[in-house]
Amino acid sequence: MPYDPTSLSNLDEVKTTHIHLDLAVDFAAKTLTGSAELDVEAIADNVSKVVLDTSFIDIRSVSVDGQALKHTLEKRHEKYGSALTIELGHSLSKGHTAKLVIGYATTEECTACQWLEPSQTVGKKHPYLFTQCQAIHARSLVPCQDSPSIKLTYSANITAPLRAVMSAVATGEEKQANGATTYKFQQKTRMPSYLIALAVGNLEGREIGPRSTVWTEPEVIEAAAWEFVDTEKFIRTGEEFLTPYDWGRYDLLVLPASFPYGGMENPCLTFVTPSLLAGDRSLVDVVAHEIAHSWMGNLVTTENWEHFWLNEGFTVFVERKILGHMQGKEHSEFSAIIGHKALVESVDLYGKDHPFTALRPCLRGEDPDDAFSSVPYEKGFNMLYYLEKQLGGEKVFDPYVRAHVQEFAGRSINTDDWKAFLYSFMEKHHGQEKVDILNKVDWEAWLSGTGMPPVENKFDDTLAKECNCLCKKWDQSRHEAKPQEFTPQDLENFSSTQRVVFLERVSELAPLPHSHLDLMDELYNLTTVRNCEIKFRWQMICLAADYEKIYPEVAAFASTMGRMKFCRPLLRSLYLAKNGSELARNTFLKHKSFYHPIAATMIAKDLGLSNVNVHSEMEPSHVFAAQLLDALPEPEMAEIQRRQSDMSVSIQKASASLSALNEFSAAKWAVLHPKFEAHTRAIKELQADLDYVFRRIRAMKTKLNLPNLDDDDEEEEE
Ligand code: BES
Ligand code: ZN
Repeated sequence: MPYDPTSLSNLDEVKTTHIHLDLAVDFAAKTLTGSAELDVEAIADNVSKVVLDTSFIDIRSVSVDGQALKHTLEKRHEKYGSALTIELGHSLSKGHTAKLVIGYATTEECTACQWLEPSQTVGKKHPYLFTQCQAIHARSLVPCQDSPSIKLTYSANITAPLRAVMSAVATGEEKQANGATTYKFQQKTRMPSYLIALAVGNLEGREIGPRSTVWTEPEVIEAAAWEFVDTEKFIRTGEEFLTPYDWGRYDLLVLPASFPYGGMENPCLTFVTPSLLAGDRSLVDVVAHEIAHSWMGNLVTTENWEHFWLNEGFTVFVERKILGHMQGKEHSEFSAIIGHKALVESVDLYGKDHPFTALRPCLRGEDPDDAFSSVPYEKGFNMLYYLEKQLGGEKVFDPYVRAHVQEFAGRSINTDDWKAFLYSFMEKHHGQEKVDILNKVDWEAWLSGTGMPPVENKFDDTLAKECNCLCKKWDQSRHEAKPQEFTPQDLENFSSTQRVVFLERVSELAPLPHSHLDLMDELYNLTTVRNCEIKFRWQMICLAADYEKIYPEVAAFASTMGRMKFCRPLLRSLYLAKNGSELARNTFLKHKSFYHPIAATMIAKDLGLSNVNVHSEMEPSHVFAAQLLDALPEPEMAEIQRRQSDMSVSIQKASASLSALNEFSAAKWAVLHPKFEAHTRAIKELQADLDYVFRRIRAMKTKLNLPNLDDDDEEEEE
């Protein structure tokens, strides 16, 4: 029976097998209006109701065979939305089906959709709509069982004034009398709800391979077709490594700049950020990543968001295999080195004891967006890499990874299913010797332990050496007034990725003097560079050094680039930089409508604006608390930080048990329920405040080069 703490649906009683959408796109009202037909099947006896996930959706009718059904939209759960309870009127026994027709409209609060004004597009003439459903936003687009444990096919008729594209195969178009067109789609491979995706805008398509078209606004079609020319090679490499590509088409959609992710593996149609258009094909590893999801995530899917690493860790592993096959092993190892740094940063940001730094976190009561970080990606990758090395390298592991796909394709699985199959494969094909190796793995530490992985892998550093070397030279020159040993040629033979790694190494140093940053910029043209990965690292270095010259550049970049990988750390660091906090918050508030709702919510949290209406002038209490803490002398700060991890862990536990109690009380004691709810809310707010304050302390200590909690702990243990 599937378990999913982040869905309100009765997953133990019914499953949806198909959804048909019939929606009209209204750009003036910013709504999608129409119906969703759900084919549901009872998976237990005596099923009298269907509970669906919804979020800010306006439900207009529910019927079966034209017969209206009694339904209730339950009170909103702060994170999981409003359950829609539908009374079937009679009981279904196991295996029996019903076709529910739900008339509805989306509203402006639906977090899956971003409606862009013409001014927010490249062409500036037409509006644009796009959706982002992962992790739990599909419920704000379609009333559904919004859990990755449910896999369904879908079809859609989308009537719109501009071209519509979806995560499915296009099956036809029909002109309507009012000038609009109905675009028809079909997804025949069963997939989870988070992969439903739609974009509508002034789109042009260009063929870039036998099964691939790239879609963009006409202004960037040329650049996109050039950048992604290797797409077919990536797919073939994936097929050689795993199994034949199952989804028919593999198209790409290059979105406007507010797209909050680098890429999103919507089946048949990967969505990507325009920041990949670097003009040098240096950032196409994101495409390799999304292609790898065609197997890892889209065919073999996590059962719920607690096992998200099964999607992302496995995908990164395959992505690096593809990269290794195409460009050579040293490139995939280099990518692993970059990934390792991202992991260190995520662990530092949360704190090494934070529950979200575990590979398999508990998400009861949590919003999966809050748990999103490099941890599932890179800790997951590192565990698989480690297992591969332990078990005898790729001759043993490659066949296993393919068998994993063959075994689980079409299913949703959890970490226990994964591990059981790993054991059984090794036993069947290699005998007790490999089982003995597996028995020596510290599973508890890998899967449940917080902080960095229990074992540190060694990666080939061929491509990193020169980057480290140049960085060291800059470090050694820090006391020279005018270093003479550097020239523009230093970076000439570096690939874009090597430039990124050079800057990452520099960012690990204590801040360089401003005169050095002036020189570095003058020689290497870092402020004006087009490549977003390079620009981002450079701006982070400058912010860590309180180099105020860069602030306007940061504000400009972070307010025109909605990819959270870039805008979130930049605004967070600007907020923490000397004289930067006002600019950070004002930049965000001024450009709030530029960001996708998912990004806007996260940035508001980062900047301490989550508890207030972002339009109000009020100072949130935890920003005030943070300012007070700024003024504390160092020993007190250390003491506060020491207590932080204990406290957040106990608050986390308390809040989880309160959620459980809450559910119980809701069912049993209607009178007591509001009290419990108020308690839960208070504790959650306290937790958010504390998390924020302690993150701030950590960041300040890092900036001041003071030892952080991790070091303190280790000293004590010694
Ligand atoms: N599926 C993710 C994006 C995602 C994750 C969206 C969780 C919403 C919730 C996608 O495949 C991804 O990992 N994108 C990365 C690409 C990178 C790892 C190459 C990104 O956006 O940066
Ligand atoms: Zn991914």
